[in-house]
Amino acid sequence: MKIGVFVSGGGSNFTKIHEKILSSNLHVEVEFLLTNNSKCGGAAYARLQGIEVKHVSSKTHSEASAYNQAVLDACEGVDLIILAGFMKKLPGELISKFKDKIVNIHPALLPSFGGHGFYGSKVHEAVFKAGVRISGMTIHFVNEVYDTGDIIYQDSVQISGEDSPADIGAKVLKLEHHHFWQVVQGISLGKLSRNTDGRVVYQHLHQAL
Ligand code: GRF
Repeated sequence: MKIGVFVSGGGSNFTKIHEKILSSNLHVEVEFLLTNNSKCGGAAYARLQGIEVKHVSSKTHSEASAYNQAVLDACEGVDLIILAGFMKKLPGELISKFKDKIVNIHPALLPSFGGHGFYGSKVHEAVFKAGVRISGMTIHFVNEVYDTGDIIYQDSVQISGEDSPADIGAKVLKLEHHHFWQVVQGISLGKLSRNTDGRVVYQHLHQAL
């Protein structure tokens, strides 16, 4: 399975997936990393690993139509697109062309703490302020509306009254690192489909933490 990975930031999720591809012989090949920030940690890691980095941003393509076309062209030939901390809205044409083939990871239990403005540390600050005792991560398909695509897999983590937003973030990131590569592997092994009424069916690998 050929994947394209979109990253804007540090890229720890991408790094984890790529390390697992190398160490566990996943049937997955990273064709390229696409970023809107050529200096981000994810791009630096990709270059070190000899993975092609495609920089597509409003700096490289100031017209929206040119930007959209560049993203579409970049994805030609891949089977799956992974959003691993990508902070820019995707072109609508990409979302319709790659229906059920774009997967995002969100650092909370959707549909709570998602949507416009819920990104990065803002998610964990909101979770902290709400005083909820469980947070987690959600891996889901991408549709036209932020964080509302069908859920593929979730896992939760307990939050104590002593946890700071940063502590919550660290707990959630650990879960993300544990599960994201497994979902990518699961997809490559045909463990993800929809049943006749359109509901997502997914069998997780469940590797031990
Ligand atoms: C993760 O928390 C992910 O859920 C969110 O962006 C963050 C990316 O972190 N979409 P990293 O760049 O993989 O470290």
